[in-house]
Amino acid sequence: MTYQDASTRLAAYGQGHVLQFWDSLSTEQRELLLAQIETIELDLMQRLAQDWIHNEPEAEHFSKIEPVPTIPQAEASRADAREAWTAGEEALRAGRVGLLLVAGGQGTRLGFDGPKGAYPVGPLSKRSLFAFHAEKINNLQRRYGCTLPWYIMVSDANEQATRDFFREHNYFGLRDRDVTFFTQRMVPCMDDNGKFMLEERHSLAMNPNGHGGTIPAIIEKGIARDARERGVDTLSYFQVDNWALKVADPFFIGYHVLRGGEMSSKIHRKTEPRESVGVHCICDGQYRTIEYSELDIYPQLLETNAEGKPIYYAGNPAVHILAVPFVERVYANFREFPWHRAHKKIPFINESGDLVKPDKPNGYKFETFVFDALRFAHHDPIALEIGRVGEYTPIKQFSGDNSVEEAWRAMRDYWAGWLEAVGHTVKRDADGNAAIKIEISPQFALTQEEFVEKARGIKLPEDGDICIQPDGALL
Ligand code: UD1
Repeated sequence: MTYQDASTRLAAYGQGHVLQFWDSLSTEQRELLLAQIETIELDLMQRLAQDWIHNEPEAEHFSKIEPVPTIPQAEASRADAREAWTAGEEALRAGRVGLLLVAGGQGTRLGFDGPKGAYPVGPLSKRSLFAFHAEKINNLQRRYGCTLPWYIMVSDANEQATRDFFREHNYFGLRDRDVTFFTQRMVPCMDDNGKFMLEERHSLAMNPNGHGGTIPAIIEKGIARDARERGVDTLSYFQVDNWALKVADPFFIGYHVLRGGEMSSKIHRKTEPRESVGVHCICDGQYRTIEYSELDIYPQLLETNAEGKPIYYAGNPAVHILAVPFVERVYANFREFPWHRAHKKIPFINESGDLVKPDKPNGYKFETFVFDALRFAHHDPIALEIGRVGEYTPIKQFSGDNSVEEAWRAMRDYWAGWLEAVGHTVKRDADGNAAIKIEISPQFALTQEEFVEKARGIKLPEDGDICIQPDGALL
C-alpha cells in the first residue's frame, strides 16, 4: 500500500487524520503505519461506528427465552455416560482430537506484565498456567498413545512473548512441531465520535478481535488444514485462565461425537444470578449464550426459583468442542457475527502529538465472541453439566472471586482428598479446609485413581506442604 492509496481510502471513510504526523515519521515508521492500515476492514469499521456509536444500538428482542436443556454431570454409573466415555477414549486413541487454546486476550485485570498463560500460578512450584495445561497434555498423550496437537491463539500484543516463553521452557516436554501459535486479527479502537485513535504517531490503537476471532484465524492461518492433514476433526476449546480445566475430557468428547455435535459446551450451575459468567439459553428457539455484561437487557435471566437459585442456571465456563467442518462452514458466515462493544479508557496521541491518558472511558473496543457461533449449529448443541471442583477455577484477579487465592484453596482441598485416599493425614483447619499447601503435577496424575496407583512408592512428609513433580519427585 502506498501513502496515496492509504490517504485516499482513509479520507473516503472520514479517517484521514490517521496520517496527520506522516511528515515527521521515519521510513520504517511509515512502513509500519501503512502495514497496519492495510489490515483494517474500513467497511466493517464504518458499519460498527454507525450501529454502535452514532446511533444507540437496539438490543435484540426475544419473545421467548428458555433455559437450555442440559446433560446431567457425567457419572460412570450411568449407561449413557459410560458409552460417552468409551467413544471419547476411542476418538483420543484414534488421534481425532486437537486442542484449541485462546490466549490472545490482554489479561489486564490480573495486573501481570506478560502473557496471562505465563502467570506463575503453582502455589509451591510457581508453575505457570501454560505449564499446567502442557503437563495435562503430556499425561493424556501417554495414556492414549496419541498426539494432541495444540493450537494456541495469540494476538499481536503477546505473540512474541508467548513463543519465547514456550521456547525458554523447552515446550514443557511437548514436541515443538505439535504446538502451533497463530494470531488473530486486530481491530482499531474508535473514540466517542467514531474516529480511529493513534497510540503512537505512527501506530493506531488496536485490540484483538475477541475470541470469536478464532473462527477466521483457524481457516486463514492454516489451522483447519493442519488439523485435517493430521486426521483431527474435533477441537477441544479452552481459555488460558482456567487452571482446573480438563483439556480433553473423554465424557465431553464422547457425547459430542456420539450426537454428531458441531459445537458443544460445558455448563456449570451458577451460584447466583449476577455471577460474572455468560448464560446458555434458548432464545426464540435458537441456542445462545448471553454475556454477563448484557444480562440487564434481559432481566428474565436474573430470575430465581423458590429456593433462590437462578432459573437460568447454565453458566458458561467457556469450554467448548468445535468440529472442524463446522468451523469451515461458520467461516462463511463470519460477517454475520454480532460484535460487542466495551467503553474503555484508551490512551491516545492528541493533535499536538502528546500522549493523553484519560481518567474516564473515551473510546470503544469491539470484539466478537466464539459462543455466538452456537446459533449457526444445525444440530441442537450439547450442553454438558460439570461440577466446579477439578473442572473450573478461572483466574481473573489475585484476590476475591475467581482469583489466584481462591484457586489455590480449591485445588488444595481437591488434592487433599487424593492424599487422604492413599492414607496420608492432611492437617485441616477448624472449618475442615486443608491447612497445608498442596500441588500435584497433572503430568504425574490427572485423577485420584491414577494418583492412588502411582503414589504408592512415594514417601510423603508427615509435616509441611506437599508438591509432587511430573516424575513423582517431591519438591
Ligand atoms: C469469559 C466469557 C464468559 C465466561 C467466562 C468464564 C467472554 C466474552 N466471556 O469472560 O462468558 O463465563 O470467561 O471464565 O469471553 N481472548 C482471546 N482473544 C481476545 C479476547 C480474549 O484469545 O481477543 C481469550 C483470553 O486470552 C482468555 C479468554 O479469551 O483466555 C477470555 O477472555 P476474558 O476477557 O478473560 O473473558 P471473561 O470476561 O473472563
